[in-house]
Parts: sequence; structure tokens; C-alpha cells
Amino acid sequence: MANSGESFRVTPWEVEGAVNYERLVKEFGTELITEELMKRLEKAAGGSNHMLRRRVFFSHRDLGHVLDDHESGKGFYLYTGRGPSGPMHVGHIIPFYFTKWLQERFDANVYIQMTDDEKFLEESRGLTLEDTAYWSLDNMVNIAAVGFDPDKTFIFRNTEFMARMYRPVLKVARKINFSWVRAVFGFNEQTNIGMVFFPAIQIVPTMFEKRRCLIPAAIDQDPYWRIQRDIAESLGFYKAAAIHSRFLMPLTGPTGKMSASQPEAAVFLTDDDKTVRKKIWQAFSGGQPTVELHRKLGGNPDVDVAFQWLYYFFEEDDRRVEQLREEYVSGRLLTGELKEILIEKVQMFLTRFREAREKAKDRLRLFTHEGRLASRMWESWPEDT
Ligand code: TYM
Repeated sequence: MANSGESFRVTPWEVEGAVNYERLVKEFGTELITEELMKRLEKAAGGSNHMLRRRVFFSHRDLGHVLDDHESGKGFYLYTGRGPSGPMHVGHIIPFYFTKWLQERFDANVYIQMTDDEKFLEESRGLTLEDTAYWSLDNMVNIAAVGFDPDKTFIFRNTEFMARMYRPVLKVARKINFSWVRAVFGFNEQTNIGMVFFPAIQIVPTMFEKRRCLIPAAIDQDPYWRIQRDIAESLGFYKAAAIHSRFLMPLTGPTGKMSASQPEAAVFLTDDDKTVRKKIWQAFSGGQPTVELHRKLGGNPDVDVAFQWLYYFFEEDDRRVEQLREEYVSGRLLTGELKEILIEKVQMFLTRFREAREKAKDRLRLFTHEGRLASRMWESWPEDT
């Protein structure tokens, strides 16, 4: 857990305040992605990604070693996940698009964990196991719609796959004591023991193969990897590597993280065009209160939701995004005009997404059946270890 003075707080379960990412990197002990490392990744990938160029994915652990393994022919695999607590918003799906980009570029296996157990155990959510089963299925269809390679992707629900994972989970769990997870996650005497055990379950997929695992996720998930890196080698596995993103700004402005429990702060994958328009129109803006003042003083793109969303994901063209920034700062572009640009982009993205989702319904089995990847995991943990 990062508890950064009064101003902000980032844990896997909540984000409060305005996150200072540079300070977070220091506290979590991760590293910023340098220009040199980014270029090396792009070269190995044979292409570039706007989320990398703009440092939406801004921090990492051992990314250099991942590229060494790629170059030596050993290769690496990818692992990410989703906590199925409700409908997904656009912030939840973006890391999956980045993961898919990495899969395509490196021809890598991808394991995707659905933590239906975790979302049941988080008592404050008040979800039943039936609820988390329902949302698992719903969310898995979204993830399948992103377009992963079905031959190289395994999406699994913890409550279903646990029989297979249980032995590795026990081996990991025995290496972690209570005072450690209490310090890392901020658990206390009232925390239920399911939550205390859960970190072992999120850690195990980093040890599904006897190769390095690279985890693309927002930086809130990093505390798990910190523990993993202290125990992996003693179990005969690699320390996990990670590539961390910032959070997509909530519609309400630059503090906290978009949360499904605050529907006005998020655009959901299921929101129709009218809802998207309404939500973005109401979003926080860095513009001036009157057109006259805006023309004179210009807007502030750093706190402007419309600009930040275009920059983060929705406008891939760098020239266009810089042109928008410049016009907004100078006051030539009005808040309403900027919002219209974003509305169109988000509506277009969601229209395509919904079509892909319809098709993915019939294809879900291709990702969830226990095929080659599931047995690969089993081989990494032979009976006698
Ligand atoms: P969950 O469901 O909270 O989040 C799913 C993924 O989305 C990222 N994320 C965000 N990214 C950008 N902007 C936001 N506002 C935002 N909110 C969430 C998360 O970092 C995550 O990548 N316990 C996990 C599930 C999990 C997992 C994993 C995630 C299991 N194994 C391995 C990443 C990697 C969870 O509840 O994620």
C-alpha cells in the first residue's frame, strides 16, 4: 500500500486524491520507462503504440530483462486480470487492448485471471457468489471481444480453476506471513481471512510457465508483484516483470480513479450513444467559465477530461492530439468543441466494441476451455515439487 502523506493513496482496492505518479514510482520502488527502454521495446515489437509513446504505460519492473529473454529466443508470457464486481467501464478494458498489442507483437501466451473469489471476499461490495459468477461471464465476453489469439490465450475464473491451482497456491501461501500482507495491503484485525489468503491466488499465475512473466496492468496492482518478486526464485521461478499504466481520469476530474460504484464518473461499455453524450457533456473541464474568457486565457488540458481521454487512448494520431492541445491552450478550441470530438470517438469505439462483443459470445469457449495453456501451467508444477 502506498500511503503518500495527506494528498493521495493507491491500493489495489481504492485510489484517493490526485495521484503523483513520480512519487508513486519512488514509493513502490518501480522504475520510469526511459526513452531508451521505450525505443528498445518498440524495436523488438517492430512497431509503436500510442499508449507507450505518451507514457500512459509509464513505469515498469524488469522490462529490460523481458527484452533480453525475447532477444535470446527464450521468450516470455503475459498475465493480466479483472475483478468481476460489476459492469466494466472503459478504464477497465484499456489494459486488455495494450496486452493484446503485446501478444500480437511478441506472439506471446496470455493468461487472464478473473478474481470472482476476491470480489466476493471484499465484504463492502456486498456481492454474493452468484453475483460474481454472473459478472465473470459478462466481463469475460468483453475481454474475449478485445480480439486475443484463441490459441494463445486462457481466461479462467478462480472458483473454477482453483482445483488445478490449489497446490501452487499453497506453496506460495506458505512463503507469506500475516505481518507482511498487513504491511503491504493495509490489512487489520478485522480483515476476513479470505482476503488475507487471497494475495497467494493473484500471485500464482506469475508462475504458470518456467519463463519470465510480464504483467500489463494499472499501477494499483503492483503490491502483489512486490511480494511475488521476493519469493519467486525460492520456488524455482522468475521474478515477475511488470509494465504499469496510469489511471484513466474519472469524468468528475483529476482526483481518484474511475469506479463502477460511481456511475456518473465512468463511461461503461454498455452505455448507449445518448448516455455517452450526456456523461461527457457533464464531465469536468479545464476550460474557462465564459467563451470570452476562454478565448482570452485558453483552457488547461492537464485537468480537462475530454483532452485527457483523447490523449490516454481515444486519439491515436500524435499530431492531431498535439494540435488539439495547442488550440485548447490558446483558446481557439472551446470546451464544447473538444467534448464533441471525444464524444464521437467514444461512440465509435463503443459501437465497434458492441459488435465485437456480440460475436465474442459464441467464441468464449475458445478462451476458457482447459487446453494447451492450462496444461502448460500444470507441467510447471509437477506432483513431486
Ligand atoms: P480490476 O478489475 O480492478 O481492474 C482490471 C484492470 O484495469 C486496471 N484499471 C484501470 N486502468 C486504467 N484506468 C482505471 N481507472 C482503472 N481501473 C482499473 C487494473 O489495474 C487492472 O489491470 N485484482 C484485480 C484482478 C487481477 C489482475 C491480475 C489485474 C487478477 N490478476 C493481474 C491485473 C493483473 C482487479 O480487481 O482488477
